[in-house]
Formats: sequence, C-alpha cells, structure tokens
Amino acid sequence: MAADLLVQGVTRRFGEQLAVDRVDLAVGQGEFLGLLGPSGCGKTTLLRMIAGFLVPDSGRIICAGQDITTLPPFARNLGVVFQNYALFPHMTAAENVGYGLKVRGMARAEIVTRVKAALDRVNLAHAADRLPGQLSGGMQQRVALARAMVIEPRILLLDEPLSALDKNLREEMQVELRLLQQRVGITTVFVTHDQEEAMTLSDRIAVMQAGRVMQLGTPEEVYRRPISRFVATFLGTTNLLEGKAARVAGNTVTVALEGGAMVEASAPVPPTPGSPVQLAVRPESILLRSTPEGVPGTVEDVLFQGHRLIALFRTDSGQELRSYMPPSGWRPARGDRAWASWPAAEAGLIQA
Ligand SMILES: Nc1ncnc2c1ncn2[C@@H]1O[C@H](COP(=O)(O)OP(=O)(O)OP(=O)(O)O)[C@@H](O)[C@H]1O
Ligand SMILES: [Mg+2]
Repeated sequence: MAADLLVQGVTRRFGEQLAVDRVDLAVGQGEFLGLLGPSGCGKTTLLRMIAGFLVPDSGRIICAGQDITTLPPFARNLGVVFQNYALFPHMTAAENVGYGLKVRGMARAEIVTRVKAALDRVNLAHAADRLPGQLSGGMQQRVALARAMVIEPRILLLDEPLSALDKNLREEMQVELRLLQQRVGITTVFVTHDQEEAMTLSDRIAVMQAGRVMQLGTPEEVYRRPISRFVATFLGTTNLLEGKAARVAGNTVTVALEGGAMVEASAPVPPTPGSPVQLAVRPESILLRSTPEGVPGTVEDVLFQGHRLIALFRTDSGQELRSYMPPSGWRPARGDRAWASWPAAEAGLIQA
C-alpha cells in the first residue's frame, strides 16, 4: 500500500506544554486510520497540523509525495470535520455543503446535484434549507461531514465527527461512514477517544498518550497484543498478572506467576530470563473450571449481564482476575473453588 500521507517526527509545543511529541505515521492510500487516546493527548493538535491550521515546531508532513508542512489549508486537498464542526451560521445546510464547490468555481447546476447527493448520503435531504441554529447537534455534525466529503478531497480528516450523536444514530453513522469511505476509497484519519468506535471503523489504530504514538496496528493487534499497560487498559478491560520470566524461547516465554503456577505467554520483545514481567489477558480469554487445571483460586462474585457472566476470581496468591463467561455451561458461584486457564496465545507480556 503506497503511503498517501506521511507524518515524520512531528513535534508541537504550546509554551511549556509538549502537545505532540515526535510523531511518525504512514497512512496508506485508501486507508482508514484511527487516532485514539485520552483527552489532551494531542489528537486535535496533530490533526490541525495535517490540515494546515498549525505549523509543527519540527518534523515534516508529506501528502502524495509533496511536502505540505507549511502549505496553507486551502492549498491542501483535504476535507476536514472539526471537533466543533464549525458550520457557517448564516448559511443553510445546503449552502454550507456547497460552499467548498462554489469557491472552487464549479457550475451552479453541478453544485446543486452534488449537494443534494451529499445531503442524501447523510439522511438530511429534508433539512437542506434550514440554518445550523435550526438543526440538532447530530444534524449539524452530519452537515459538516457532507461538507467535507462533497469536494472529494484526497484525504479526509475527521475530529470526533460523531461525538454529539446518540448511541443508535452514532452506530448507524459509523456503518454509513465506513461504507462511504470504502466506496469512495478515500484516505481517512479519524480522531476519537472511544475505543469501540476506533476498532469498528479503523484499518489501523494509532494509540496516543501524552503526545506520543504508543502503538500502531490493526484493531486486533492493539487489542490482543497491547505492548504496554496503558494500551491494554485503554482498549478495554484487561487482567494484569505479575510473574517472572522462567524460560525464554524466541517470542514464547514461560512465566512463573506469583504463587508458583507456570504459564506460557507471547512476548514481542523477549525479556531476560529471571526478570519480573507483567502478563495481560483479556477477561473473555479466561476460562474458570471446577477441575484442577490452571491457576487455583476462589470465586468472589458472579454478576449476570444477560449475554454473559462476569466472574470475579481471586487466585490463591491473591491476584484478582475477571472472567467473562457465557451464561450457559458450568456456572461458578460465590465461594466456589475454581481453576483459571487461558490459551497461551491470548496471554501477552507488556511493558509496565
Ligand atoms: N491553542 C492552544 N494553546 C495552548 N495549549 C493548547 C492549545 N491547543 C492544545 N493545547 C494543549 O495541548 C494538549 C493537547 O491538546 P489537544 O487538543 O490536541 O488534545 P486532544 O487529544 O484533542 O483532546 P480531546 O480528546 O479533549 O479533544 C493539551 O494539553 C492542550 O491543553
Ligand atoms: Mg481534540
């Protein structure tokens, strides 16, 4: 996949505050890249530099082979939806969507056709003549999305474009957005702090923390193979177990857990034998059984959630584990003795 957008060593400070810190990214042609991270980690700042509203202190931004680091926004062929989706308040929805085409000098009849199609795509044909002040927050977001896409930009930059929508509409729009993006084949950078949204939509996810990209990979890679405690916990619930690397064979490590149980785990970077390690295992990978296989302990509580049970388990050595179990099959009860096990491939070593 040819890189359509390259971000190389980009850094930006605001006074003492290091907002974006030496970020490298290569976004492939037609790829949907999710930028995921907690509030304040630098997502918007990075997007604004790609869009041209902020100049990096250092580093370069390259689009389709051209260095655009200092090019003004209008000279970049980018469609942008801002976090606050700033629509022109005195223009109707249709005029907002058509604005970018008008300034590009497109013929009126063509603009009308394109604007209609763009509003249709976001289910807003009926609201074409309303002003932003007469639209709900979610409708305004959809107008902003239509406005960004109608110019058929080379790259689409979206900063939390669905955050004002309620849950159902949001899920509907996620599917719509993904289909639209696939159909048009447009390279997209999508900012969100919602991990499920990032996983649903993205081809790859860049997980950011304090201005840095901590991990970059497919949703499955970052979810199943988080490299750090931060990434593991940010992307959902995880169990962290303490132990020591007993044996190291390539990327497979035998870990002696606290309490003595030996388990296998995968490690992207093999640790030194004998060193303390931390193991991450997702709750859905942990199986509790009433037969002595795995790590022994006691069931502390079982919560029924309809589609699953959450079992809270404490190993004999005192580590807390959480297991998601199907409601069918053996059902543990509070106070039961049980044994926890998981497939070796689902346990990964992480950096603390
Ligand atoms: N114009 C500015 N002046 C000063 N500091 C700024 C400015 N813009 C951003 N910052 C600071 O830079 C850091 C990164 O901000 P940014 O808006 O990029 O975060 P974010 O990841 O988009 O967060 P959120 O999820 O809340 O939108 C924050 O500490 C923020 O306070
Ligand atoms: Mg932001």
